[in-house]
Amino acid sequence: TGAFTYDPGFTSTCSTKSAITYIDGDEGVLLYRGYPVAQLAQHCSFLEVAYLILNGELPNKTALETFDQSIRRHTMINEGLKSFFNGFHYDAHPMAMLTGVVGSLSGFYHDTGNNKDPRHREIFAHRMIAKIPTIAAAAYKKYYGQPFMYPQNHLDYCSNLLHMMFAVPAEPYHVDPIAAKALDVLFILHADHEQNASTSTVRMAGSTGTNPYAAISAGIAALWGPAHGGANEAVLNMLDEIGDVKNVQGFMDKVKDKQSGVRLMGFGHRVYKNFDPRATIIREECHKVLKALKIDDPKLELAMKLEEIALNDDYFKARKLYPNVDFYSGIIYKALGIPVNMFTPMFAVARTVGWVAHWSEMVGDGPLKIARPRQVYTGAAERNVVPVAQR
Ligand code: CMC
Repeated sequence: TGAFTYDPGFTSTCSTKSAITYIDGDEGVLLYRGYPVAQLAQHCSFLEVAYLILNGELPNKTALETFDQSIRRHTMINEGLKSFFNGFHYDAHPMAMLTGVVGSLSGFYHDTGNNKDPRHREIFAHRMIAKIPTIAAAAYKKYYGQPFMYPQNHLDYCSNLLHMMFAVPAEPYHVDPIAAKALDVLFILHADHEQNASTSTVRMAGSTGTNPYAAISAGIAALWGPAHGGANEAVLNMLDEIGDVKNVQGFMDKVKDKQSGVRLMGFGHRVYKNFDPRATIIREECHKVLKALKIDDPKLELAMKLEEIALNDDYFKARKLYPNVDFYSGIIYKALGIPVNMFTPMFAVARTVGWVAHWSEMVGDGPLKIARPRQVYTGAAERNVVPVAQR
């Protein structure tokens, strides 16, 4: 490979420097701007954490209020986007709508990736964080054939999202504070995760100087896959397929048979080879939320049984496979009444903070260096073209 290193899947390549998130995969450490994620989940709101991730420091009361007001001010989307949503087929996956609609924002805001003015980058960040719940909720409404609900700016970030999803014009709707708080904690845990596939995609697209909304749309596309953000949806589908605790062992045998191609979804991580600190918090949160909402979900029992068997199984031990953040998040989403195909859009709402922070960091650090990997060529050697008549 000459002067190049062959590193499929970038298992040992650092693509950038970044001051946002620190992970120690062996020790199970996750810090946003130096703060342990568990402490942030305990003491802060999602918007406080969003401010931290964007700006490097936790806000004081005034800074938080100003940030919060700015986010509230930008929650609406252009009315013309209703027609865009309505153009989707009735059974389009909400992630398909998210990818398209977020990309279309580039047609409304003609920002460039070479934007050297930090205030412009800030407006982009605020717009994106403010509008993504509105877009996710509209995707939900389109999928279920209900009228779109406008943002209610007197509500906090997560309550507003739940309201836009579950309220209907004909009836009053009160957001359950337990549900809003649970969502807030989940969003904190998903807000950033350094150079994961979707964030790397945002950086890669952004490195060309493309419109930043287009770069975020690329990140959403990368998040959709079941190896990444789509895992939360895949976990619930897997639990449905297993159906009952008595089928767990048979399913595990299938997972261990490499020919089957079946994986235990919600298990394993490229970086965490000890445990995923987010999974520990989410597991506790899951028990707490189900108890508070008085929900007795057999899926939780099934998940716990799967986890127990996997953690004691030589196959998983030898490969250092532990539950990741998505193993339990779906059970919480389900308890909040969020349908399975909206799990990954929920992840996208939270991760938008990380994406915009990484894009801003990259552009702010400038000058942009286009991300352009090399390859190991495995095709034909040079040869001459034979005209079609003689082939
Ligand atoms: N079930 C069964 N076997 C597994 C699993 C799993 N979930 N994950 C990894 N393995 C095996 C894999 O077959 C391989 O075995 P061997 O060495 O015998 O070939 C070994 O463990 C290493 O796996 P890998 O695929 O080389 O590891 P990776 O770092 O490339 O992949 C991963 C990481 C997260 C894509 C993978 O663990 C996976 O597919 N997990 C299931 C999907 C999932 O839960 N994804 C969410 C990740 S966390 C949230 C997020 O990133 O969005």
